[in-house]
Amino acid sequence: MAGNRTFTMIKPGAVRNGHIGAILAHINKGGFKIVAMKYTQLSKEKAGEFYAVHKERPFYGELVDFMSSGPIIAAVLEKANAVEDFRTLIGATNPAEAAEGTVRKLYATSIGENAVHGSDSDENANIEANFHFAGTEMY
Ligand code: RTP
Ligand code: MG
Repeated sequence: MAGNRTFTMIKPGAVRNGHIGAILAHINKGGFKIVAMKYTQLSKEKAGEFYAVHKERPFYGELVDFMSSGPIIAAVLEKANAVEDFRTLIGATNPAEAAEGTVRKLYATSIGENAVHGSDSDENANIEANFHFAGTEMY
């Protein structure tokens, strides 16, 4: 059965471009409830750990540099079928291929700086939420 929670980050580029408020409003309008949230900056080490699954990919160094380049919003979101529905809401990894009206179509500038992260499975949603939040910080 699909789980009801997913994990997201508003990435440093979208924060720098002033899109925090619009993206959170988009998330709420999409029917997601925010059950945990913080405004924080990842160290290079923490960003590398978070994206360790991509270690062998050619874009890994760039990804780690970008994700640690400024503050992010980290949040845990709740909705039925959260992982899949959130990935539909944010759109394709490459904003040039993202559907009209999706977060990445509206707010991303490139495949590297694509505005938001969304977990890709219930298992990873749980791991990623616990990476950023203590149990007492999720409501
Ligand atoms: P995310 O994990 O951030 O939600 O993105 P995703 O599932 O849509 O994409 P994924 O394959 O997990 O890639 C993670 C992030 O790496 C960057 N990327 N850059 N330059 C490139 O070709 C490239 N490919 C991926 C993106 O920022 C992507 O979100
Ligand atoms: Mg991913």
